[in-house]
Amino acid sequence: MTILGIESSCDECSVALVADGTQLLSQVVATQVEYHRPYKGVVPEIASRKHTEWIFDVYRQCLQEADMSAEQIDGIAVTCRPGLVGSLLVGASFAKGLAFALEKPLIGVDHILAHLYAPHLECELEYPFLGVLLSGGHTLIARVEGYDEVEVVGATIDDAVGEAFDKVAGYFNLGYPGGIEIDRRARMGDARAYGFPAPRLHKGDHLFDVSYSGLKTAVVNQREQFRDPAYEASIENICAAFEKAAVEMLVSRVLKAAERYKLSTVVAGGGVAANTYFRQALAREPGLRVVLPSLSLCTDNGAMVAALGYEYLSRGRRSELDLDVSARTPGFRRAYP
Ligand code: KG4
Ligand code: ZN
Repeated sequence: MTILGIESSCDECSVALVADGTQLLSQVVATQVEYHRPYKGVVPEIASRKHTEWIFDVYRQCLQEADMSAEQIDGIAVTCRPGLVGSLLVGASFAKGLAFALEKPLIGVDHILAHLYAPHLECELEYPFLGVLLSGGHTLIARVEGYDEVEVVGATIDDAVGEAFDKVAGYFNLGYPGGIEIDRRARMGDARAYGFPAPRLHKGDHLFDVSYSGLKTAVVNQREQFRDPAYEASIENICAAFEKAAVEMLVSRVLKAAERYKLSTVVAGGGVAANTYFRQALAREPGLRVVLPSLSLCTDNGAMVAALGYEYLSRGRRSELDLDVSARTPGFRRAYP
């Protein structure tokens, strides 16, 4: 069964073909990053307009790379939540048009579930595991019991971790998106040069929640001193100290959650899962199997959508042509240990 997956929830326009849920036949990812760079963040209207311009070409190229015709597709999966509504609508409308014209079944899938499903494209993975999603829009830790059985046990109470990396990089004019540049500079810096505070969670916050707004403010305050000619600092040291604080916060929650729920496999996804400090910190943990998909499957991609879509379509589940999109994911169970 060959499924076409369409992903357009944010600023990546991607279409992929996956056979039997695990075999990637072809994937095209067209990134809009250069169009959003001047604004140091994703501009929703630009994102949806670019998806509208590009999606047909991306689809055509994907078929060409797999040397397949549209008639050979057995089903169509599309991200329908969460994300930027205008961007989601472009993918969903395109998918509906295709499903109608080709008379193929359609399924709308959840982007977060798709990220947590992505490793199946590269390795054997048994449930349950602890899923960690770290991107520009999402920061969550979840108990994953099946392809659509997810219980969120920790999340950010304010900014997403990638957003914090991008904002800090923005303050220092390190480029956009800035996570990779902070990672690069942090390798040359000394994290001990600054002591950025661990976040304070409040009553009612969950044990495995994280928070980034205080850390971001601490870094910005550092920058004010940086402007003082009498003050000596290095951006490399600030990057290293920020990265350490941001990532250790996550790693400590991940390890505690793994212990609490007795899960020995951790699966991470999202752009920030590419971070060197994060990867090294988890790799050091004895007794923990850490599954980190390759970068093209960590960041937004059509393959994860097609692979998860296969799980539904192969069981006969379908979306109708009135499939709607939504900015948020309702109804993930949230646990309070
Ligand atoms: O998953 P992703 O490609 O897109 C979405 O947000 O959906 O994640 C992008 C985020 C950006 O915030 C980027 O700065 C961050 O991932 N990022 C990193 C690294 N590479 C990308 N953050 C820290 N270290 C990295 N090496
Ligand atoms: Zn994503």
